[in-house]
Amino acid sequence: MAANRTESMSTSGISRRKWLKTVSVGAGAVALTGCFESGVKELQAAGMKTAHFPSATPNVNDGLVRLSSNENAFGPSQKAVDAMQGELFNLARYTDATVDVLKQKIARQEGVSADQIVVTNGSSPILFGYAEWITENGNKLVTSMATYEGIPRGAEFMGADVTYVPLDAEMGFDLDAIEAAVTDDTTAVYICNPNNPTGKIVDPAKLTAFAKRVSKKAQVFIDEAYIEMSDAYPANVQSQLVADGHNVVICRTFSKIHAMAGQRLGYAIMPADQAKQLGRKLRMGGVNYLALVAGMASMDDHTNLETMRKRIRVERNKLTAAAEALGRPYAKNPQGNFIYVDTGMPHDAFAEKMKAKGIKVVGRTWPGFDSWSRISVGTPEETDACVAALQEVLA
Ligand SMILES: Cc1ncc(COP(=O)(O)O)c(C=O)c1O
Repeated sequence: MAANRTESMSTSGISRRKWLKTVSVGAGAVALTGCFESGVKELQAAGMKTAHFPSATPNVNDGLVRLSSNENAFGPSQKAVDAMQGELFNLARYTDATVDVLKQKIARQEGVSADQIVVTNGSSPILFGYAEWITENGNKLVTSMATYEGIPRGAEFMGADVTYVPLDAEMGFDLDAIEAAVTDDTTAVYICNPNNPTGKIVDPAKLTAFAKRVSKKAQVFIDEAYIEMSDAYPANVQSQLVADGHNVVICRTFSKIHAMAGQRLGYAIMPADQAKQLGRKLRMGGVNYLALVAGMASMDDHTNLETMRKRIRVERNKLTAAAEALGRPYAKNPQGNFIYVDTGMPHDAFAEKMKAKGIKVVGRTWPGFDSWSRISVGTPEETDACVAALQEVLA
């Protein structure tokens, strides 16, 4: 822990936070406090909030409880916030050296090498860069219906041929059917685990065996955006496949369990030559420094991550219990911070009714599932408000 903590500060010379501590009641400390106060005022003026500025107004000034984007309403680790505060005056330099520190940290955690890692502003740039890579490398993607659109829609938009395999009877990925759909000229297979929007997770041993076989024909891309929220974490992570030289990509984000969607930080682990190529393409000026500092502090805050997993599970259980009590079908045993429920009405009608009750749920649909809607978990108060609204809308 101590070593990691030092590491998160190591590229910054003397940490500003430490410096402030040593300058008794110095002008710097006064300036820092003042800076926060005016920051909050500006956030309020713009109709913004963060979980750590409870006096501010909601972050989208529409007065709705926002359960539409699978954000983590509990907010980032206090240690991440402290780390950012400590570095607020250390923003003059570009961040390549700090990106390398983060890569080494991820490499140690995942048992891979740093040159297999690409770091970007959230994981979305990786998904879109990868979609483009598909079009340049055979143009064929196989994935499942009802999955996250980043790669499939991006690839389709760029002209790729995308095969959507139906879900299995439990609404999970049908790995056998996906494997059967892969041909010698398939470029890549996209697996989202846990899957957005269904929340379903694939049996780890089955996924490992699948990836080992299928990656001989096509690259297997596993999007683990929500993996840290799953009950089995970390036993179900698949980064070892990359370490062992399989033709696999693992993608992660700090937007979900780390609650840093507004800071934008994500990464992928992939074969080193591809990481070099994709890294060059996606560099686009680099990643922001405070995100890197916060991300590293959050990775070290194991207690917070464990607490997050538990709190998210409690709220998720409230939503599944509500669906159960209301007799609505839903994708069982969800493992992200959302549930996927058949509301019995078109998704947009449901969204409108929920909006009228002050709750924003996801506004889009997945082809073939028009009466299904995804609802994210919120803070206890937010989830409770959602359950109350569901009881009225779905009664
Ligand atoms: C499965 C999945 N992957 C990737 C992302 C992209 O997130 P970000 O760009 O914030 O890392 C999301 C966002 O909701 C997601 O659900």
